[in-house]
Amino acid sequence: MTAILKIRDLEKTYDGGFQALKGVTLDIEEGEILALLGPNGAGKTTLISTVCGITVPTGGSATVSGHDVQRDYRKARAEIGLVPQEINLEPFSIVENNLHLSRGLFGKRRDPATVERVLKQLSLWDKRKNRVHELSGGMKRRVLIAKALVHEPRVLFLDEPTAGVDVALRKDMWETVAQLKADGVTIILTTHYIEEAEAMADRVAVIRKGEILMVEPTSELMRRLGRKELRIDLREPLSEVPQALSEYELELAEDGLALTYSYDTQADRTGIAGLMRALSDNGIILKDIQTRQSSLEDIFVDLVSEEEESA
Ligand SMILES: Nc1ncnc2c1ncn2[C@@H]1O[C@H](COP(=O)(O)OP(=O)(O)OP(=O)(O)O)[C@@H](O)[C@H]1O
Ligand SMILES: [Mg+2]
Repeated sequence: MTAILKIRDLEKTYDGGFQALKGVTLDIEEGEILALLGPNGAGKTTLISTVCGITVPTGGSATVSGHDVQRDYRKARAEIGLVPQEINLEPFSIVENNLHLSRGLFGKRRDPATVERVLKQLSLWDKRKNRVHELSGGMKRRVLIAKALVHEPRVLFLDEPTAGVDVALRKDMWETVAQLKADGVTIILTTHYIEEAEAMADRVAVIRKGEILMVEPTSELMRRLGRKELRIDLREPLSEVPQALSEYELELAEDGLALTYSYDTQADRTGIAGLMRALSDNGIILKDIQTRQSSLEDIFVDLVSEEEESA
């Protein structure tokens, strides 16, 4: 695999002195879907704008297909399609004209065949003669995508593709993205929603306060998600975990009144039955038990708090 997009130590300090990107380094492989996951104000839009040449970086660099986004702006920009966070279409414009115009802006010759292919790809062919204001919100978003794709870029940035979109349309968008990937487009999308990153992305980069906290294959996150915790409340406090139970790697609560056992729900044997027997054999009396599955949300919260502890 080769990186189509290389971001190195990218920094952005806005004019007022606010540092929105604090040295971001990231490689994006050709054909993959990367989700930039982070809370409001994390720097997602700033990162995209900087790579797309809308905002000038104050440090570091980025290249698309080997073209530096600053030195080689035109060549780099031609490789990029950008779907902005805000819908910025002229309400009275005709859908297909938006696409013809966009090709023109990139200096590409008029090409009805490509416009037709892209409109069909985004299920907008029937609406090609409509005015933008006659479309639903989800359709408008698809027009933005079509517009971003019509100059045939290799990398597509989708800034919050499902913002303000209902559940059904959100699923549509997930399918659209999967289809684009199947057509060979490399996609970087931003989202606040973990389940959305999970549904669409091959890898997830977690960004917060202008820094990438973690980049991991989505499947790796899912594996972590497969872990479940069993919390066992005890009738009598324990001063320590009995030696006979050491194989279970139990964690004892500070007050000695609860044991936590962590196990893999996907494993053939969870070890719970054996643990229960061992507890009883050692005269430990249970008061209550409960299980808890870690969600991506938990992992995210963990990452953030780890970072705060080390800061
Ligand atoms: N033009 C600007 N001038 C000054 N500060 C800015 C500017 N644009 C963004 N910022 C600040 O940079 C930080 C990151 O903003 P950015 O829009 O990149 O966040 P985001 O992750 O896209 O958030 P959201 O999820 O809300 O879209 C914020 O604190 C924001 O206020
Ligand atoms: Mg944003």
